[in-house]
Amino acid sequence: MRRPEGGWQGKRVVLGVTGSIAAYKAVELARRLTQEGAQVQVVMTRAATRFIAPLTFRELTYREPLVDLFDPPPGELMRHVHVAEEADLLLIAPATANILAKMAAGLADDLLTCTFLATQAPVVVAPAMNRIMYLHPATQENLAKLARWGVVAVGPEWGPLATGIEGPGRLASIDQILAAAAEAIDRGQGLVQWAESADLKGVRVLVSAGPTREAIDPVRFLTNRSSGKMGFAVARAARARGAEVTLVTGPVALADPPGVRVIRVESAAQMRAALLEHFLQCDVLVMAAAVADFRPRQQAPAKIKKGEHQEGLRLELERTEDILTELAGQRAPHQVLVGFAAETNADLAQARAKRAAKGVDLLVLNDVLEPGAGFESETNRVTLLHRSGQAEPLPLMSKEAVAHQILDRVVQLLATSGPTS
Ligand code: PMT
Repeated sequence: MRRPEGGWQGKRVVLGVTGSIAAYKAVELARRLTQEGAQVQVVMTRAATRFIAPLTFRELTYREPLVDLFDPPPGELMRHVHVAEEADLLLIAPATANILAKMAAGLADDLLTCTFLATQAPVVVAPAMNRIMYLHPATQENLAKLARWGVVAVGPEWGPLATGIEGPGRLASIDQILAAAAEAIDRGQGLVQWAESADLKGVRVLVSAGPTREAIDPVRFLTNRSSGKMGFAVARAARARGAEVTLVTGPVALADPPGVRVIRVESAAQMRAALLEHFLQCDVLVMAAAVADFRPRQQAPAKIKKGEHQEGLRLELERTEDILTELAGQRAPHQVLVGFAAETNADLAQARAKRAAKGVDLLVLNDVLEPGAGFESETNRVTLLHRSGQAEPLPLMSKEAVAHQILDRVVQLLATSGPTS
């Protein structure tokens, strides 16, 4: 489990719980944080108390959950300011569409919304709601607005919801929420500081993610194991640092990151077209997609019948365009380019040659055979290869943390790149 540097011991976490069917999962969150040594102060909305009894949280956190704004214990004034000032982190899980709307509107009509407005601690929300409510433009705009302010959203996940229908809206896993919370504590920035110091504010970042699908016939295709998690993490992290982000992604089962323009494509040719269209307007390109290197030379117009190929089927493949090399050939002096390399052996000499051949400023090398790294995992272990030839190995960390490491280098590269056109 990802923990803050120095662990959870003594960290003061305000855990906001709102009125969602997923409220019962906040019990496990409170239990895990308390077990790890955090001081957990639960703040519940009135609606949350209809789903779960405050008593449950009191028994697990050894603290009385707070609900009422106007009912302070004897000797305590201005409860919201007190709770807000004490916090190292405000974590709202589950976060309903309603609380997100109130936060985005700056309303302060209960203890939790007052705490949000009065805190200088980092804020993490874990949305959970019905699929239609989540996809509603109102909710998406509220999430985008909150992301612009520096609120970190974790999830929701794609999966079966309380209604039985599949879609985005399910609360992220407890491990994911704890990892996002730990990262937020380590970054240590509240929204007010964030607004003052977002280091990619106004920078236009183009990110690619996921696999591509190369059609064999209308029902079959060639693809690879990319889940899109790495590229989506880069898009989320860039957005959280104030960038204007466009994400071009192949087919993945991930919900759109709030505040990010998402373009969904299938094939390498479609990914190339989308990236070419947006490349000239970007300041930074981060190419995390696992683009197919080969595609069937011909796509059968109808389903290939196995009965007609008793001896087996021979597919002829042709090379796809190398998108990154093509884009690098068109780059303007101010643009910063980051490529990835998925290798099954971390050969630094080969990787250095690949960085030079691709014409990028930074190459992120991952050995995809290493446990916890590369495709599909929540974590990654990468080596950053710089123009100077320097190889900078990073320890195993979440893909979100890798994304921030990459963006830290991008900020440095932007400072030394040519003038912005
Ligand atoms: O999506 P996840 O499950 O989170 O997994 C993350 C990841 C393993 C996909 C990611 O970390 C990663 O390594 N992405 C690059 C994968 C890849 O295609 O590597 P490559 O060595 O084949 O390509 C090198 C670079 O050229 C990459 O930036 C790639 O996007 C780009 N490329 C490749 C082929 C092609 N036809 N056009 C390209 O632009």
